[in-house]
Amino acid sequence: MADEMIITLENVNKVYDNETVLHDIDFEVERGKFYTLLGPSGCGKTTILRLIAGFTEASGGEIRINNERVNEVPPNKRKVNTVFQDYALFPHMNVYDNVAFGLSLKKLPKNEIQEKVKNALKLVQLSGYEKREIREMSGGQQQRVAIARAIVNEPEVLLLDEPLSALDLKLRTDMQYELREIQQRLGITFIFVTHDQEEALAMSDWIFVMNKGHIVQSGTPVDIYDEPINRFVADFIGESNIVPGKMIEDYRVGFVGKEFECADAGITPGEKIEIVIRPEDLELTSVEKGKLIVKVDTQLFRGVHYEIIGYDEDGNEWMVHSTKKADIGSEVGLYFNAEDIHVMRLGETEEEFDARLESYDE
Ligand SMILES: Nc1ncnc2c1ncn2[C@@H]1O[C@H](COP(=O)(O)OP(=O)(O)OP(=O)(O)O)[C@@H](O)[C@H]1O
Ligand SMILES: [Mg+2]
Repeated sequence: MADEMIITLENVNKVYDNETVLHDIDFEVERGKFYTLLGPSGCGKTTILRLIAGFTEASGGEIRINNERVNEVPPNKRKVNTVFQDYALFPHMNVYDNVAFGLSLKKLPKNEIQEKVKNALKLVQLSGYEKREIREMSGGQQQRVAIARAIVNEPEVLLLDEPLSALDLKLRTDMQYELREIQQRLGITFIFVTHDQEEALAMSDWIFVMNKGHIVQSGTPVDIYDEPINRFVADFIGESNIVPGKMIEDYRVGFVGKEFECADAGITPGEKIEIVIRPEDLELTSVEKGKLIVKVDTQLFRGVHYEIIGYDEDGNEWMVHSTKKADIGSEVGLYFNAEDIHVMRLGETEEEFDARLESYDE
Protein backbone atom coordinates (compact mmCIF):
# COMPACT_ATOMS: atom_id res chain seq x y z
CA MET A 1 0.00 0.00 0.00
CA ALA A 2 2.83 2.39 0.92
CA ASP A 3 3.67 3.39 -2.67
CA GLU A 4 0.03 4.32 -3.23
CA MET A 5 0.66 7.18 -0.82
CA ILE A 6 1.60 10.19 -2.85
CA ILE A 7 1.85 12.71 -0.01
CA THR A 8 2.64 12.12 3.62
CA LEU A 9 2.88 14.62 6.45
CA GLU A 10 4.39 13.29 9.65
CA ASN A 11 4.30 15.30 12.85
CA VAL A 12 4.43 18.53 10.92
CA ASN A 13 4.49 21.75 12.92
CA LYS A 14 4.53 25.33 11.83
CA VAL A 15 5.46 28.21 14.09
CA TYR A 16 5.10 31.87 13.06
CA ASP A 17 6.49 34.48 15.46
CA ASN A 18 6.44 32.12 18.46
CA GLU A 19 2.86 31.11 17.68
CA THR A 20 2.23 27.51 16.66
CA VAL A 21 -0.28 27.59 13.81
CA LEU A 22 -0.04 23.88 12.95
CA HIS A 23 0.22 21.19 15.64
CA ASP A 24 1.62 17.73 14.82
CA ILE A 25 -0.17 17.33 11.53
CA ASP A 26 -0.18 13.71 10.41
CA PHE A 27 -1.83 12.61 7.24
CA GLU A 28 -1.50 10.44 4.21
CA VAL A 29 -2.88 11.12 0.78
CA GLU A 30 -3.50 8.26 -1.60
CA ARG A 31 -2.85 8.69 -5.30
CA GLY A 32 -5.80 9.66 -7.48
CA LYS A 33 -8.25 10.62 -4.74
CA PHE A 34 -10.01 13.86 -3.90
CA TYR A 35 -9.08 15.20 -0.45
CA THR A 36 -10.49 18.26 1.26
CA LEU A 37 -9.13 20.35 4.09
CA LEU A 38 -12.17 21.85 5.75
CA GLY A 39 -12.20 24.31 8.62
CA PRO A 40 -12.92 27.88 9.70
CA SER A 41 -10.87 30.90 8.71
CA GLY A 42 -7.39 30.92 10.23
CA CYS A 43 -7.31 27.20 11.12
CA GLY A 44 -4.23 26.56 8.96
CA LYS A 45 -5.57 25.24 5.64
CA THR A 46 -3.54 27.50 3.36
CA THR A 47 -0.44 26.92 5.49
CA ILE A 48 -0.70 23.15 4.86
CA LEU A 49 -0.96 23.72 1.10
CA ARG A 50 2.03 26.08 1.20
CA LEU A 51 4.05 23.46 3.07
CA ILE A 52 3.20 20.76 0.52
CA ALA A 53 3.95 23.10 -2.41
CA GLY A 54 7.19 24.23 -0.78
CA PHE A 55 6.41 27.94 -0.42
CA THR A 56 6.95 27.82 3.29
CA GLU A 57 9.15 25.63 5.45
CA ALA A 58 7.97 23.32 8.22
CA SER A 59 9.23 24.14 11.72
CA GLY A 60 9.27 20.43 12.52
CA GLY A 61 8.30 17.07 11.09
CA GLU A 62 8.64 15.56 7.65
CA ILE A 63 6.83 16.05 4.36
CA ARG A 64 7.15 13.31 1.75
CA ILE A 65 6.06 13.21 -1.88
CA ASN A 66 6.16 9.76 -3.46
CA ASN A 67 7.86 8.51 -0.29
CA GLU A 68 10.76 10.94 -0.56
CA ARG A 69 11.46 13.67 1.94
CA VAL A 70 10.92 17.03 0.25
CA ASN A 71 11.39 19.45 3.18
CA GLU A 72 14.49 20.89 1.48
CA VAL A 73 13.25 20.59 -2.13
CA PRO A 74 12.34 23.92 -3.80
CA PRO A 75 8.76 24.42 -5.11
CA ASN A 76 9.62 24.11 -8.82
CA LYS A 77 11.13 20.66 -8.20
CA ARG A 78 7.98 19.27 -6.59
CA LYS A 79 5.41 17.58 -8.82
CA VAL A 80 2.68 19.76 -7.49
CA ASN A 81 0.62 22.59 -9.01
CA THR A 82 -1.25 25.11 -6.93
CA VAL A 83 -4.29 27.28 -7.49
CA PHE A 84 -3.84 29.98 -4.88
CA GLN A 85 -6.52 31.66 -2.85
CA ASP A 86 -5.65 35.00 -4.56
CA TYR A 87 -5.17 33.18 -7.92
CA ALA A 88 -2.04 35.24 -8.76
CA LEU A 89 -2.50 35.41 -12.54
CA PHE A 90 -0.08 37.32 -14.75
CA PRO A 91 -1.92 40.64 -15.12
CA HIS A 92 0.00 41.79 -18.20
CA MET A 93 -0.87 38.66 -20.23
CA ASN A 94 -4.12 37.63 -21.88
CA VAL A 95 -6.09 34.52 -20.95
CA TYR A 96 -4.43 32.28 -23.51
CA ASP A 97 -0.90 33.21 -22.45
CA ASN A 98 -1.74 32.73 -18.79
CA VAL A 99 -3.04 29.22 -19.38
CA ALA A 100 -0.27 28.35 -21.87
CA PHE A 101 2.50 29.60 -19.60
CA GLY A 102 3.55 26.30 -18.01
CA LEU A 103 3.39 24.44 -21.33
CA SER A 104 5.49 27.09 -23.07
CA LEU A 105 8.13 26.72 -20.38
CA LYS A 106 8.21 23.01 -21.12
CA LYS A 107 8.72 23.92 -24.80
CA LEU A 108 5.85 21.79 -26.08
CA PRO A 109 5.01 22.04 -29.81
CA LYS A 110 2.76 25.03 -30.53
CA ASN A 111 -0.19 23.06 -31.90
CA GLU A 112 -0.15 20.78 -28.88
CA ILE A 113 -0.20 23.80 -26.58
CA GLN A 114 -3.12 25.26 -28.53
CA GLU A 115 -5.07 22.04 -28.24
CA LYS A 116 -4.47 21.70 -24.49
CA VAL A 117 -5.30 25.34 -23.75
CA LYS A 118 -8.49 25.06 -25.76
CA ASN A 119 -9.58 21.99 -23.81
CA ALA A 120 -8.71 23.53 -20.46
CA LEU A 121 -10.68 26.69 -21.22
CA LYS A 122 -13.64 24.62 -22.31
CA LEU A 123 -13.59 22.73 -19.01
CA VAL A 124 -13.87 25.98 -17.07
CA GLN A 125 -16.53 27.35 -19.45
CA LEU A 126 -14.30 30.07 -20.90
CA SER A 127 -14.11 29.05 -24.56
CA GLY A 128 -13.70 32.12 -26.73
CA TYR A 129 -12.00 34.20 -24.02
CA GLU A 130 -8.44 33.48 -25.24
CA LYS A 131 -7.62 37.05 -26.26
CA ARG A 132 -9.14 38.78 -23.23
CA GLU A 133 -6.82 40.68 -20.91
CA ILE A 134 -6.85 39.48 -17.31
CA ARG A 135 -7.77 42.92 -16.00
CA GLU A 136 -10.90 42.81 -18.18
CA MET A 137 -12.14 39.64 -16.49
CA SER A 138 -14.44 39.41 -13.46
CA GLY A 139 -13.17 37.82 -10.23
CA GLY A 140 -14.99 34.56 -10.94
CA GLN A 141 -13.65 34.43 -14.50
CA GLN A 142 -10.12 35.03 -13.24
CA GLN A 143 -10.57 32.24 -10.75
CA ARG A 144 -11.54 29.90 -13.59
CA VAL A 145 -8.51 30.99 -15.62
CA ALA A 146 -6.38 30.05 -12.60
CA ILE A 147 -7.96 26.59 -12.52
CA ALA A 148 -7.39 26.14 -16.27
CA ARG A 149 -3.78 27.27 -15.88
CA ALA A 150 -3.19 24.57 -13.28
CA ILE A 151 -5.03 21.62 -14.84
CA VAL A 152 -3.49 22.20 -18.26
CA ASN A 153 -0.16 20.99 -16.83
CA GLU A 154 -1.74 17.69 -15.73
CA PRO A 155 0.22 17.67 -12.47
CA GLU A 156 0.34 14.57 -10.27
CA VAL A 157 -1.04 16.59 -7.43
CA LEU A 158 -3.21 19.67 -7.66
CA LEU A 159 -3.57 21.90 -4.63
CA LEU A 160 -6.64 24.13 -4.79
CA ASP A 161 -7.11 26.87 -2.23
CA GLU A 162 -10.80 27.90 -2.17
CA PRO A 163 -10.85 27.89 -5.99
CA LEU A 164 -14.60 28.48 -6.25
CA SER A 165 -15.03 31.20 -3.62
CA ALA A 166 -15.65 34.05 -6.10
CA LEU A 167 -18.37 32.24 -8.06
CA ASP A 168 -22.13 32.63 -7.76
CA LEU A 169 -24.10 29.63 -6.54
CA LYS A 170 -25.08 28.28 -9.97
CA LEU A 171 -21.61 28.53 -11.47
CA ARG A 172 -20.11 27.22 -8.27
CA THR A 173 -22.26 24.09 -8.41
CA ASP A 174 -21.42 23.62 -12.12
CA MET A 175 -17.71 23.96 -11.37
CA GLN A 176 -17.98 21.51 -8.47
CA TYR A 177 -19.23 18.90 -10.94
CA GLU A 178 -16.60 19.88 -13.52
CA LEU A 179 -13.72 19.70 -11.04
CA ARG A 180 -14.85 16.36 -9.68
CA GLU A 181 -15.18 15.08 -13.24
CA ILE A 182 -11.73 16.38 -14.25
CA GLN A 183 -10.20 14.84 -11.15
CA GLN A 184 -11.70 11.44 -11.84
CA ARG A 185 -11.01 11.46 -15.56
CA LEU A 186 -7.38 12.57 -15.30
CA GLY A 187 -6.73 10.63 -12.09
CA ILE A 188 -4.99 13.65 -10.56
CA THR A 189 -4.72 13.73 -6.78
CA PHE A 190 -6.60 16.80 -5.54
CA ILE A 191 -6.10 18.54 -2.24
CA PHE A 192 -8.89 21.03 -2.08
CA VAL A 193 -9.37 23.70 0.55
CA THR A 194 -12.73 25.12 1.52
CA HIS A 195 -14.57 26.42 4.53
CA ASP A 196 -17.87 25.43 2.92
CA GLN A 197 -19.03 22.17 4.43
CA GLU A 198 -21.62 21.41 1.72
CA GLU A 199 -18.95 21.76 -0.94
CA ALA A 200 -16.65 19.45 1.01
CA LEU A 201 -19.35 16.82 1.49
CA ALA A 202 -20.36 16.90 -2.17
CA MET A 203 -16.90 16.70 -3.73
CA SER A 204 -14.52 14.72 -1.54
CA ASP A 205 -13.44 11.12 -1.18
CA TRP A 206 -11.92 12.04 2.14
CA ILE A 207 -12.18 15.09 4.41
CA PHE A 208 -9.78 16.41 7.03
CA VAL A 209 -11.70 18.66 9.41
CA MET A 210 -9.42 21.25 10.98
CA ASN A 211 -9.70 23.58 13.94
CA LYS A 212 -7.05 25.89 15.37
CA GLY A 213 -4.11 24.18 13.70
CA HIS A 214 -5.24 20.64 14.51
CA ILE A 215 -6.87 17.96 12.39
CA VAL A 216 -9.82 17.07 14.59
CA GLN A 217 -11.41 14.37 12.47
CA SER A 218 -10.77 12.69 9.16
CA GLY A 219 -12.96 10.34 7.18
CA THR A 220 -15.35 9.96 4.30
CA PRO A 221 -18.06 12.62 3.99
CA VAL A 222 -20.69 10.14 5.17
CA ASP A 223 -18.64 9.06 8.22
CA ILE A 224 -18.03 12.60 9.30
CA TYR A 225 -21.59 13.69 8.76
CA ASP A 226 -23.10 10.66 10.49
CA GLU A 227 -20.61 10.35 13.33
CA PRO A 228 -19.05 13.67 14.28
CA ILE A 229 -16.34 13.23 16.89
CA ASN A 230 -17.19 16.28 18.96
CA ARG A 231 -19.29 19.41 19.26
CA PHE A 232 -17.02 21.42 16.97
CA VAL A 233 -17.36 18.96 14.07
CA ALA A 234 -21.07 18.38 14.66
CA ASP A 235 -21.66 22.14 14.57
CA PHE A 236 -19.37 22.83 11.65
CA ILE A 237 -20.69 20.04 9.42
CA GLY A 238 -24.37 20.60 8.92
CA GLU A 239 -27.02 21.58 11.42
CA SER A 240 -27.04 19.73 14.71
CA ASN A 241 -29.03 19.50 17.89
CA ILE A 242 -26.57 18.99 20.73
CA VAL A 243 -27.72 18.44 24.31
CA PRO A 244 -25.93 17.25 27.45
CA GLY A 245 -26.65 13.68 28.49
CA LYS A 246 -25.49 10.70 30.50
CA MET A 247 -24.72 7.10 29.59
CA ILE A 248 -27.08 4.85 31.55
CA GLU A 249 -25.71 1.51 30.35
CA ASP A 250 -24.85 -0.08 26.99
CA TYR A 251 -27.45 0.97 24.40
CA ARG A 252 -29.19 3.32 26.82
CA VAL A 253 -28.72 7.05 27.32
CA GLY A 254 -30.42 9.74 29.37
CA PHE A 255 -31.15 13.31 28.33
CA VAL A 256 -33.80 15.93 29.04
CA GLY A 257 -34.76 13.92 32.13
CA LYS A 258 -35.68 10.78 30.16
CA GLU A 259 -34.05 7.53 29.08
CA PHE A 260 -33.77 6.39 25.48
CA GLU A 261 -32.58 3.38 23.58
CA CYS A 262 -29.49 4.13 21.46
CA ALA A 263 -26.92 2.34 19.28
CA ASP A 264 -23.83 3.12 21.37
CA ALA A 265 -22.05 0.87 23.83
CA GLY A 266 -18.72 0.47 25.61
CA ILE A 267 -18.99 3.73 27.53
CA THR A 268 -18.81 3.80 31.33
CA PRO A 269 -22.29 3.95 32.89
CA GLY A 270 -22.84 7.36 34.45
CA GLU A 271 -20.35 9.08 32.14
CA LYS A 272 -21.34 12.57 31.04
CA ILE A 273 -21.72 12.73 27.27
CA GLU A 274 -23.17 14.93 24.58
CA ILE A 275 -26.00 13.81 22.35
CA VAL A 276 -26.32 14.82 18.70
CA ILE A 277 -29.48 14.42 16.64
CA ARG A 278 -29.63 15.87 13.12
CA PRO A 279 -32.68 18.07 12.32
CA GLU A 280 -33.69 15.83 9.40
CA ASP A 281 -33.78 12.80 11.74
CA LEU A 282 -36.44 14.38 13.93
CA GLU A 283 -40.03 13.73 12.99
CA LEU A 284 -42.78 16.11 13.97
CA THR A 285 -45.61 14.26 15.69
CA SER A 286 -48.31 14.64 18.33
CA VAL A 287 -47.44 15.28 21.97
CA GLU A 288 -48.68 11.76 22.82
CA LYS A 289 -46.46 10.04 20.27
CA GLY A 290 -43.40 12.23 20.81
CA LYS A 291 -40.31 10.97 22.62
CA LEU A 292 -39.62 14.61 23.44
CA ILE A 293 -41.99 17.52 23.71
CA VAL A 294 -41.07 20.99 22.54
CA LYS A 295 -42.79 24.32 22.35
CA VAL A 296 -42.53 25.76 18.83
CA ASP A 297 -40.76 29.10 18.79
CA THR A 298 -40.02 29.93 15.15
CA GLN A 299 -40.59 28.52 11.69
CA LEU A 300 -38.87 29.35 8.41
CA PHE A 301 -39.75 28.07 4.95
CA ARG A 302 -36.55 26.76 3.36
CA GLY A 303 -37.90 25.62 0.00
CA VAL A 304 -37.57 21.86 0.44
CA HIS A 305 -38.67 21.84 4.06
CA TYR A 306 -39.68 23.96 7.00
CA GLU A 307 -37.04 24.71 9.58
CA ILE A 308 -38.79 24.67 12.92
CA ILE A 309 -37.17 25.68 16.19
CA GLY A 310 -38.62 24.68 19.53
CA TYR A 311 -37.54 24.44 23.15
CA ASP A 312 -37.89 21.49 25.51
CA GLU A 313 -38.74 21.74 29.22
CA ASP A 314 -35.03 22.09 30.11
CA GLY A 315 -34.66 25.01 27.73
CA ASN A 316 -32.63 23.10 25.09
CA GLU A 317 -33.13 24.32 21.55
CA TRP A 318 -34.26 21.75 18.95
CA MET A 319 -34.21 22.31 15.22
CA VAL A 320 -36.46 20.14 13.05
CA HIS A 321 -36.50 19.88 9.26
CA SER A 322 -39.97 18.85 8.28
CA THR A 323 -42.23 19.01 5.26
CA LYS A 324 -45.07 19.58 7.74
CA LYS A 325 -45.82 22.96 9.26
CA ALA A 326 -46.15 23.59 12.97
CA ASP A 327 -48.07 26.27 14.86
CA ILE A 328 -45.92 28.79 16.61
CA GLY A 329 -46.50 28.68 20.37
CA SER A 330 -47.98 25.16 20.24
CA GLU A 331 -46.53 22.04 21.85
CA VAL A 332 -45.48 19.26 19.48
CA GLY A 333 -43.89 15.84 19.88
CA LEU A 334 -40.55 14.89 18.37
CA TYR A 335 -39.97 11.30 17.33
CA PHE A 336 -36.61 9.72 16.48
CA ASN A 337 -35.10 6.25 16.24
CA ALA A 338 -32.39 4.73 18.42
CA GLU A 339 -29.80 5.00 15.64
CA ASP A 340 -30.55 8.71 15.12
CA ILE A 341 -28.97 9.39 18.53
CA HIS A 342 -25.22 9.95 18.23
CA VAL A 343 -23.20 9.85 21.42
CA MET A 344 -20.10 12.04 21.75
CA ARG A 345 -17.68 11.49 24.64
CA LEU A 346 -16.10 14.63 26.00
CA GLY A 347 -12.44 15.00 25.00
CA GLU A 348 -12.26 11.72 23.09
CA THR A 349 -9.23 11.47 20.77
CA GLU A 350 -9.66 10.40 17.15
CA GLU A 351 -7.92 7.09 17.93
CA GLU A 352 -10.26 6.31 20.83
CA PHE A 353 -13.22 7.40 18.76
CA ASP A 354 -12.28 5.18 15.79
CA ALA A 355 -11.71 2.21 18.09
CA ARG A 356 -15.12 2.70 19.69
CA LEU A 357 -16.94 2.89 16.33
CA GLU A 358 -15.08 -0.17 15.09
CA SER A 359 -16.17 -2.14 18.14
CA TYR A 360 -19.84 -1.49 17.17
CA ASP A 361 -19.31 -3.11 13.79
CA GLU A 362 -18.07 -6.37 15.32
N1 LIG B 1 3.26 34.60 6.90
C1 LIG B 1 2.64 34.53 8.08
N2 LIG B 1 3.17 35.14 9.18
C2 LIG B 1 2.55 35.04 10.38
N3 LIG B 1 1.42 34.35 10.60
C3 LIG B 1 0.84 33.75 9.56
C4 LIG B 1 1.43 33.80 8.24
N4 LIG B 1 0.64 33.09 7.41
C5 LIG B 1 -0.39 32.63 8.15
N5 LIG B 1 -0.28 33.01 9.45
C6 LIG B 1 -1.21 32.67 10.54
O1 LIG B 1 -1.36 31.27 10.56
C7 LIG B 1 -2.70 30.90 10.88
C8 LIG B 1 -3.25 30.01 9.79
O2 LIG B 1 -3.36 30.74 8.59
P1 LIG B 1 -3.89 30.13 7.22
O3 LIG B 1 -3.70 31.15 6.17
O4 LIG B 1 -3.25 28.80 7.02
O5 LIG B 1 -5.44 29.93 7.55
P2 LIG B 1 -6.63 29.40 6.61
O6 LIG B 1 -7.21 28.21 7.28
O7 LIG B 1 -6.15 29.25 5.22
O8 LIG B 1 -7.69 30.60 6.72
P3 LIG B 1 -8.68 31.26 5.59
O9 LIG B 1 -9.87 30.34 5.48
O10 LIG B 1 -9.04 32.56 6.18
O11 LIG B 1 -7.92 31.37 4.30
C9 LIG B 1 -3.46 32.20 11.04
O12 LIG B 1 -3.55 32.50 12.41
C10 LIG B 1 -2.59 33.21 10.32
O13 LIG B 1 -2.73 34.49 10.90
MG1 LIG C 1 -6.56 30.23 3.48
